[in-house]
Amino acid sequence: MAVQKEQWGSRIGLILAMAGNAVGLGNFLRFPAQAVQNGGGAFIIPYIVSFVLMGIPLLWIEWAMGRFGGQLGHHSAPGMLNALGKQKWLKYFGIFGIFTNLAIMSYYVYIESWTLGYTWHSLAGTFNGMGMHEVSLYFDKYLGTGVGNFLNFSNQAILFLVVTLAVNIWILSRGINKGIELAGKICMPLLFIFGIFLTIRVLTLDAGENGAINSASVGLNFLWNPNFDSLYNPKVWLAAAGQVFFTLSVGMGCIQCYAAYLKKNDDIALNSLTAGFTNEFVEIILGGSIIIPIAVSYLGLDWIKANVGFEMGFRTMPTLFQNWGPILAAVAGLSWFGLLFFAGITSSLAMGQPVMAFMEDNFKIKRGRSSLILGALVLLLSAPAVLFYEFGAFGEYDYWAGTFSLVLFALGETIIFVWMFGSNKAWKEITRGADVEIPKFFKFIIKYVTPVFLIAVFFGATIKPEGGEWGTALYSLSCGDGWPLAGDSLIGMVCNLGINDTRWFVDGRPSTVFIKDITRLLLLAVFIGVGIAIHFAFKKKPAKKAKRRIKK
Ligand code: ALA
Repeated sequence: MAVQKEQWGSRIGLILAMAGNAVGLGNFLRFPAQAVQNGGGAFIIPYIVSFVLMGIPLLWIEWAMGRFGGQLGHHSAPGMLNALGKQKWLKYFGIFGIFTNLAIMSYYVYIESWTLGYTWHSLAGTFNGMGMHEVSLYFDKYLGTGVGNFLNFSNQAILFLVVTLAVNIWILSRGINKGIELAGKICMPLLFIFGIFLTIRVLTLDAGENGAINSASVGLNFLWNPNFDSLYNPKVWLAAAGQVFFTLSVGMGCIQCYAAYLKKNDDIALNSLTAGFTNEFVEIILGGSIIIPIAVSYLGLDWIKANVGFEMGFRTMPTLFQNWGPILAAVAGLSWFGLLFFAGITSSLAMGQPVMAFMEDNFKIKRGRSSLILGALVLLLSAPAVLFYEFGAFGEYDYWAGTFSLVLFALGETIIFVWMFGSNKAWKEITRGADVEIPKFFKFIIKYVTPVFLIAVFFGATIKPEGGEWGTALYSLSCGDGWPLAGDSLIGMVCNLGINDTRWFVDGRPSTVFIKDITRLLLLAVFIGVGIAIHFAFKKKPAKKAKRRIKK
């Protein structure tokens, strides 16, 4: 029987690593943007319900699957899934658990590298005296975007990307204890210190002081005044469920990988909740108290509603910090971008480890070499996201790997673990060694509610109507005018809906459609490539052997 090679050194190390896996750029950049775009207080109720009915059950499922697989020597999804049943296709479903991590890491590390670059520039005083327009232009200059040329990039963006990736690979090459666990123990406390410092500063912002037009409470009220009408709005539900997925890192295969380094009777129930709630604290309390309240204080609520987005943290924050004087601006810049960097790196490490574990377990590739292969793959795959960032390549990575795959994998693994492996066995795995008693009704939730919830999310994303207006779409359908599909629904994405000119070349130049289609083909090739690797991995290790292991 294959034995587990590495294990977590301490409980606190495990929790910090798992919390670090979850706490990421999503907590500070994606969550606030999603909350604003979905009506502020209207967002929070569907978000909390999704967290309880889908997020927590998925955490338990993934931790349990991981610990189970780890006992059999599997630290990545294909082997773990293979061990859950006799069907040969199970291991191939594990493609998602490798593909998703590889593809997300490839664009995630790029954003992470911006935060490193901006930490540097904040300390170097690059933004001193720049107005908002100049800071925004600087961001384009940093990325090499905004000039409308293909293949345009800036040297510094590439430099910081290479440095960021090298740091990731170096940490991963040091292994679970000396690498990932130690990184969590260093990065997470620093992230908390930076986050709490910024939150306190925000809470003391008053209208009329330091150039603020509003007090911070205006932004906070907008975010936290619950609006129960949202309960009837599928658009908000879809966005909330999507955010819960992304922020908890469920449906990726990285939680399972970390959990595979647990001991057989280590607690899952409490540890997973601790890591999950730490993530929620960081997301809701810290993530909700920084960028939006600051921006609302200086730019007003209407401006934020019109301009909020993923890049806002880079395009506006360096200017806004300057209202606090040069020293505090530098400290705030260091805190904000440093916090983002620590949040990002503890997540990207978790994306790299399953890919390395797959190589190590199945092809007996040593850690040092597997980390270098991972580095090379990520560098290669990040190239389209970097070079064609503004032409849609980045968005394709985010949609297919960072959104679609997560839901599909989570739905599949839930069915496999709870329905095929068996709900009693699954419950036993989840509760074995538990330090808290999980209320029995969660067995029902895990078996019925979570899968139905996931099916609803998947179905909703597949036929999402234009503008997320479900009422209007139903009316249109009832009038015989058909269902107005949104361009970013699954069907809309596949059919390039809303794009009138689908030519690959226009006036001899490649079009955006060309870039998007090529990116999709590349992602598909990676997906198939992972499938082929799994095929060879398990050819070496016949199914018989794996089955014998389960019996033991
Ligand atoms: N969970 C990670 C984040 O929120 C991926 O960024």
